[in-house]
Amino acid sequence: PAPGWTVHADAVVVGSGVAGLTAALELRTRVRRVLLVTKDVLSSGSTVWAQGGIAAALDPGDSPAAHLHDTLVAGAGLCDPRAVEVLVTEGPARVHELVARGAVFDTGPDGAISLTREGGHLTDRIAHAGGDATGAEISRALVAQIVAVRDDPGIEVVEHALVLDVLTGEPGPDGAPGPVRGVTLHVIGEGSRDGVGAALAPAVVLATGGIGQVFRSSTNPALATGDGIAAALRAGARLADLEFVQFHPTVLWLGSGVKGQLTLVSEAVRGEGAYLLDTDGFRFMPDEHPLAELAPRDVVAHAIVRRTAATGTDHVWLDARHLGPDFLRGRFPTIHARLLEHGIDLTTDLVPVAPAQHYHSGGVVTDLDGRASVPGLYAVGEVACTGVHGANRLASNSLLEGLVFAHRAARDVVARLEGGFLTDGDPVERPGDAALVAAAARSRVQRAATDGPGVLRSGDGLRRAVDALAAVPTDAHRRHDDGRALAAPQTAEWETTNVHQVATVLTQAALAREESRGGHARTDFPASSDDWRVRVEVALGPGGAV
Ligand code: SIN
Repeated sequence: PAPGWTVHADAVVVGSGVAGLTAALELRTRVRRVLLVTKDVLSSGSTVWAQGGIAAALDPGDSPAAHLHDTLVAGAGLCDPRAVEVLVTEGPARVHELVARGAVFDTGPDGAISLTREGGHLTDRIAHAGGDATGAEISRALVAQIVAVRDDPGIEVVEHALVLDVLTGEPGPDGAPGPVRGVTLHVIGEGSRDGVGAALAPAVVLATGGIGQVFRSSTNPALATGDGIAAALRAGARLADLEFVQFHPTVLWLGSGVKGQLTLVSEAVRGEGAYLLDTDGFRFMPDEHPLAELAPRDVVAHAIVRRTAATGTDHVWLDARHLGPDFLRGRFPTIHARLLEHGIDLTTDLVPVAPAQHYHSGGVVTDLDGRASVPGLYAVGEVACTGVHGANRLASNSLLEGLVFAHRAARDVVARLEGGFLTDGDPVERPGDAALVAAAARSRVQRAATDGPGVLRSGDGLRRAVDALAAVPTDAHRRHDDGRALAAPQTAEWETTNVHQVATVLTQAALAREESRGGHARTDFPASSDDWRVRVEVALGPGGAV
């Protein structure tokens, strides 16, 4: 749709999780005008839901080299070691900066930050806050900093703003995407910025988070609809590692009919010593991996799915009762309270758990400064594919990635603006932007994605999912569900279109990778293959084909 209003900025940051807030705060001090847009309110997004913590080599007995080792092992041969090196060496300084920005981490009697362990870590290196409310504390501290500078003309915050498309300039003679010119936004009820508008800027930092809504159940909030990945794809950016979806092993199981955002039971509960039992009461993880319940997340999720198939059930039990009521209430107050809402007492009851979608390791391909393949486009946080996660993200590396790479991206934007490498210009209209999926098709898309590229995948299942997704009508801009002409698309249609596009490319990537590795488990190709120590990349061709 044609923009009804236009705003100009030096840089637009899209998203207000740890990555977007960090990028905006860093940019504000160095550029004339930053626009921070967020789909809901500033404190929404996935960061606030993060329980376990943030991993960094903060202990004198730990080292970035040890953190690097554990990250590479979890990534199952597909991490970019240069990106991991950046993550683990710059991580501790970024966490200390977060403390300087007001985030309060849990500390021990000596005043040092308390560290715990999660799956795949060979040492205690997870800093946490409020026991199990780490993301909420990080979000609180960063949002407070943004609110404190809200009157500053150098930064404008627009809430309730869904990013529609990344605007680009004239393509190169070889058809390569032209430079970034800004974004179009759909804003609901924000005064002069209401409705569809354009935010023009030579730099756009996507920090739009994950894709949970692609699947029937996820730990992600409802707004995780893959908007950044889909917009980057439409703008011609390269995407990679899309098939590597992380399913968290211990998500509260409330019955197979329950969908949407489900309650996470942090890996830190297992880090503190909780067991997994099958429905016969057998502790099965020691037979599966030397690290038992603290094996990398993909190993635990796959073991649970195999165990439930063997026992003819849909869930296993998490048993934390032996850790003691006082400890559990003090260390996991959020989880304890959320489980009580469902009548489950962590201190006395077995907790029914099963894997659910949790994190997307792949995304928009970037370099070490967060630059995507479209000039002026940056991606930071979960939407990005920096290479730090490879085939499976190590627990608690995601908040850290958001911090480290948002900081680097902001520095790079500043340097490139100052060097005259990013300049304003007119956007060109792209053909083929008209596809729109009706909101009512969302559950059809989610069913296809869950049955196809779910926890365990097969060629047949993936081919069925590709067909099912291709059969979803994409002409909702022309008709209503009952055939009537549609007045104007709304958030639900744009989001469902993004969910559908992400599901489609993710399923295609999962079908292409004929092996099992990390978060990608194929029953028809159960082993890893050296031939597949490569990235599957996706980009739109000139005719719009993937
Ligand atoms: C958890 O608390 O188990 C989640 C941590 C993460 O996803 O890194």
